[in-house]
Amino acid sequence: MSKNVIDMKNITKSFYIGTPNQLNILKGIDITVKEGEFVSIIGSSGSGKSTLMNIIGALDRATSGEYVLDGTNINEISDDGLSEVRNKQIGFVFQTYNLMPRSTALSNVELPLLYYGMNRKQRRERAEELLDLVGMKDRMAHRPNELSGGQKQRVAIARALATNPSIILADEPTGALDSATGRMVMDLFHKVHEQEGKTIVFITHNNELADETQRIITLKDGNIISTMENSNYYRRYQEEEKICL
Ligand SMILES: Nc1ncnc2c1ncn2[C@@H]1O[C@H](COP(=O)(O)OP(=O)(O)OP(=O)(O)O)[C@@H](O)[C@H]1O
Ligand SMILES: [Mg+2]
Repeated sequence: MSKNVIDMKNITKSFYIGTPNQLNILKGIDITVKEGEFVSIIGSSGSGKSTLMNIIGALDRATSGEYVLDGTNINEISDDGLSEVRNKQIGFVFQTYNLMPRSTALSNVELPLLYYGMNRKQRRERAEELLDLVGMKDRMAHRPNELSGGQKQRVAIARALATNPSIILADEPTGALDSATGRMVMDLFHKVHEQEGKTIVFITHNNELADETQRIITLKDGNIISTMENSNYYRRYQEEEKICL
């Protein structure tokens, strides 16, 4: 049996918008995700998907509940500990890419490796390898405004993989892309999942893309209203040669 990399019990999140007003956004979420699973989270706008993702990714803390991330009890660690968990264990991919605008594709991918403590030469090698993996080696010296949306997202995926995290969290990574480009980015997620064995949590508004993942969790008004093992899930890349990260 594979281990749980995400184990959440009764997670709530409330925002205080001035006494006595309190918005209860997540209302008692239980989620477990096993190592190597590809899970999607769907639900209408405002249902709490990004709020949940921020907690899963240790960008934010829950108001109450228990969270163990890959063996680390998130409730018990300091804010510095949280930053370290984020850098080493989690790769983020966002709808709007969140690349540094003045830096080249190469520098964007190298940055998490700098925080990771890798030397310049190793950083360069690793970043080039990852840009090659996502098909962006010939655009390494380009800045984000010299890249298309799909190309920016591929750089963002390379950056997310940089520190070899076990979990990739993606918040509507295809949301800003046309369907053909979204398809290409989705294929890259399948590749990362199947060839590298990464655990992926994928937020989307696109039910067809969700239907390609192994499990679909539906949020509504801050509650999980269904969790469906997905019989439509299929493997695309298992026969291909394993890429070396
Ligand atoms: N910092 C905050 N302060 C107050 N309310 C917040 C804050 N962050 C989120 N919310 C509220 O929480 C609710 C859920 O927001 P969230 O961003 O998680 O939704 P979502 O499911 O990701 O929606 P979308 O599909 O539009 O991205 C919204 O009503 C939002 O206004
Ligand atoms: Mg959102």
